[in-house]
This record gives sequence, C-alpha cells and structure tokens, in this order.
Amino acid sequence: MGCFYLRERNKTKKQSMSSPTLTVDKDGFNDEMSQKANKSCSSVVAASPRSILELYEGRAHELRSFRLAELRSATSNFSRDLKIGEGGFGSVYKGFLKTSRSQLGLRNDNGNLVVAVKKLNPNGMQGHKQWLAEVQILAVVDHPNLVKLLGYCATDDGEQGPQRLLVYEFMPNKTLEDHLFNRAYPTLPWKTRLSIALGVAKGLHYLHEGLEIQVIYRDFKSSNVLLDEEFIPKLSDFGLAREGPVDGQTHVSTAVMGTYGYAAPDYV
Ligand SMILES: Nc1ncnc2c1ncn2[C@@H]1O[C@H](COP(=O)(O)OP(=O)(O)OP(=O)(O)O)[C@@H](O)[C@H]1O
Ligand SMILES: [Mg+2]
Repeated sequence: MGCFYLRERNKTKKQSMSSPTLTVDKDGFNDEMSQKANKSCSSVVAASPRSILELYEGRAHELRSFRLAELRSATSNFSRDLKIGEGGFGSVYKGFLKTSRSQLGLRNDNGNLVVAVKKLNPNGMQGHKQWLAEVQILAVVDHPNLVKLLGYCATDDGEQGPQRLLVYEFMPNKTLEDHLFNRAYPTLPWKTRLSIALGVAKGLHYLHEGLEIQVIYRDFKSSNVLLDEEFIPKLSDFGLAREGPVDGQTHVSTAVMGTYGYAAPDYV
C-alpha cells in the first residue's frame, strides 16, 4: 500500500476523462479483477455470479466524469478555507457544484449541491490503485449506510501532472471518530450510538451478503464512518476493499491492510 504510481501517462485527454479503465495496474486489484472477468467469460457456467469488473461496466455510466476546472471552481481552487480533512489518500475539500441534485440522480433537488472532493496526494501513502478500487466498488454498491460517490476526475496531462479526485455527497456531521474522541463535540446519546452501530452493521451486512459479489471492506474504523444531517452512518473509503472469493474458491489474500497504528477488527 505504500507505493504510488500512475500509469496511462500517454493517453489522450479524451481517453483520460472517460470512465476509469480497469486494466491499469499490472499487479494490483484491477489486473486481478480482469483475470477473474476473463475466467468467468470463458467459463461455461452461465449462472455464475458476475465479477466486480462486469458489474462495474454495467454501472459506470451512472458516475459523472468531472473536469478538473469544474472541481477547481467548486472548491475555490482547493482553498484552505474549504479544506475539511486529510487522510492517507489526500486532502478533502467542501465544494459547491453548479450542477443540480437531480442532474446527478439525487433526491431533494433544492438547486444547491454540496459535495466533498477528495484529492489524491501524489506523495501520499495511497495511489491510483486505491482510487480505482474506490471508483469501481462505489459505482456498484447502493445502500443507505454507504457513502454515495457522485463521480470522479482523472487527468494525466494537466500542468501539474496526473490528478485523481473523487466527488462524494457531503456529510455535514463529520465522522464517528470526531463525536467519540473530540471533546469539542457534545457526547453522543446512547440512542444515537446504538442507531449508528446498527447502521454500520447493516452497511457491512450489505457488503457481505447483499450483492451479487462479496466485498471485504478491510478499513472499518470510526474515522471512516461519516454521519449525515440525521446522524445516519455511511461507511466510506473503499480504496483497500477487495472482492471476496468467487467460483467456489475458498482462499482470499490474508495480507494485512489498513492504517498505521490501527488494525481493523478482522486482524486482531
Ligand atoms: N463525504 C464526505 N463528507 C464530508 N466530510 C468528509 C467526506 N469524506 C471525508 N470527509 C472528511 O474528510 C476527513 C478525511 O477523510 P479521509 O477518509 O481522507 O481520511 P481518514 O478517514 O481520516 O483517514 P484514512 O486515510 O486513514 O482513512 C474525514 O475525517 C471527514 O471529516
Ligand atoms: Mg477515511
């Protein structure tokens, strides 16, 4: 997870602005996904579940490909004043899009679309592989307890070199970590805590059992539980997630993933 590299440097602008391609990383998630897809295509078992690659291809059109200029304008050129956080992937900014909610398939169209824009730090711990995994998985999933990805931006030929960004629906109540450990926030009532615990359990259950594929999240921690205006929890950060075993396989990689200083319950 510690490496960062971007491929596709030679692609034209038109290509790099289209849906993220799925065969970018030779030894990562996507190559693995491609092999599974090829395998299942050549398989004679017609009813075998589709791979995440195939599911993604059916849903990719629902994500919007943003231009970098559009996201610059939405965040006042990635202004410090609009920076709302920073993690292993990069900085997160609050943004105001000129697009209406209904244009992005969202309910409650009040003409004002507030978003969170996550900008990959090219010197950070994560890279294109995590960005792509997040795009693929969030394009496929749809659940009230998972964060909603609205779109992405991928450019390789701008003045500042390769850029990878993700655009989410904005969650106004920060993260569960903030409410549990930051004394600036009032103590969460037990009722709210229980409903958050139930919500995240539903989100995890959906990832494990509610899809045609199984998704192993691998980054379950309180800072990845975002809270909406009604404190409904939304699991976020799918860069480390991977598809569970397919086609009768019983083995998946047991490589430890996560954040330095923290291990997900799966590993302790
Ligand atoms: N959709 C969103 N809406 C509102 N705020 C968000 C959203 N996504 C992220 N944030 C804010 O940005 C902060 C940083 O998020 P990020 O996921 O990059 O890092 P992290 O979860 O703190 O660390 P890690 O990289 O280990 O996951 C979050 O703590 C949260 O406050
Ligand atoms: Mg996070």
